[in-house]
Amino acid sequence: MSMPIKIADRMSRIRPFYVMELLARARELEMGGRSIIHMEVGEPDFPAPDSLVAAGKGALDRGCTRYLPACGLPELRCAVADFYRARFGVSLDSRRVIITPGASGALQLIMSVLVEQGDEVLMTDPGYPCNRHFVELAGGTPVPLPVGPDSDYQLTAERVAAAWNRNTVAALVATPSNPTGTLLARDQLNDLYRSVASRGGTLLVDEIYQGLVYDEPPHTALAVADDLFVVNSFSKYFGMTGWRLGWLVAPEGYLDALERLAQNIFISSSSLAQFAALSVFSEENIGLMESRRIAFKQRRDYLLPALQALGFRIKAQPKGAFYLYADCSDLSQDSSEFCRALLEEVGVAATPGKDFGSNQPERYIRFAYTTGIPRLEEGVARIARFLAARKLR
Ligand SMILES: Cc1ncc(COP(=O)(O)O)c(C=O)c1O
Repeated sequence: MSMPIKIADRMSRIRPFYVMELLARARELEMGGRSIIHMEVGEPDFPAPDSLVAAGKGALDRGCTRYLPACGLPELRCAVADFYRARFGVSLDSRRVIITPGASGALQLIMSVLVEQGDEVLMTDPGYPCNRHFVELAGGTPVPLPVGPDSDYQLTAERVAAAWNRNTVAALVATPSNPTGTLLARDQLNDLYRSVASRGGTLLVDEIYQGLVYDEPPHTALAVADDLFVVNSFSKYFGMTGWRLGWLVAPEGYLDALERLAQNIFISSSSLAQFAALSVFSEENIGLMESRRIAFKQRRDYLLPALQALGFRIKAQPKGAFYLYADCSDLSQDSSEFCRALLEEVGVAATPGKDFGSNQPERYIRFAYTTGIPRLEEGVARIARFLAARKLR
């Protein structure tokens, strides 16, 4: 006798990360001795700072390994609130900061608390692929709106107004964005907020790449209004991807619901990570993170013109995160095939547009500059060789 495999219907709408297949193939090639330049990876390449590791070890030595309150270690919630005050001049009650298992956990909490069966959430296409799925899991309908270079691949107040209907409950934006690295200026956020709020909806702002901006100081949507949701994480600016720790800032009225849900689905975020994360706001660590930010800026300043010289078109200025979203349509009509061949033939891994939605994905490739300039130079040289060989065919 055997039990049937019965997978819930909703799973048919959850798509894999295609880049994982590419990554698996890249690893396979590496095992076989090939050198691979990784420009597909969406996480900083820098090691965990010594002070973070020491704080983590200290927490283990002190036996700080038990469950913590569902909304997070009170000292960490205060430290996050202090960070907003010190860096952005935004004063925030630490009760509104909820510590989560990454920004991923924050987005799941928010969607679960906000979205009912049939509710619609507006978002960009291209955009971070998991967002669609968080809405689906809450029983809602994600509404990806095609965006292009004319709006820096961001939603605008007008776009939101045109797409809004009686089922729409929220709009989700990310600044800087994945995969385009583009930003929303404060007045654009303000316009979006007014457009969404005037329709009785909620604005959700993913600020996970907040500290990683290169041409202007970072800012926060919390300076625009305090009745919107902000999502953030220790993953990117603080380089703590594998520690699985993030946070959200919620409007007062949602705190009880969020806490009840967090108690039920997570119990608590990693206690080790939370104790360690208390160290990241020190002056010394922020200094280190800022030197890393400058390294990312130098990489962007190298890679952007280098890719353009090869024939990729990058049509909106990528001012943050660590991604370039390149239009490859002068070089190929099929970015997935292009990425596959690039990997097989010259060992360069990059992410095809289809991971980010269905808005002309075949025209786009995301290059991540999460590796040092010498490796990026080698990657560019290999792409040049690859393109030259294609021309001869
Ligand atoms: C825009 C965006 N939001 C959220 C996440 C989730 O990050 P984490 O759960 O590691 O904090 C990512 C990860 O790449 C992302 O790019």
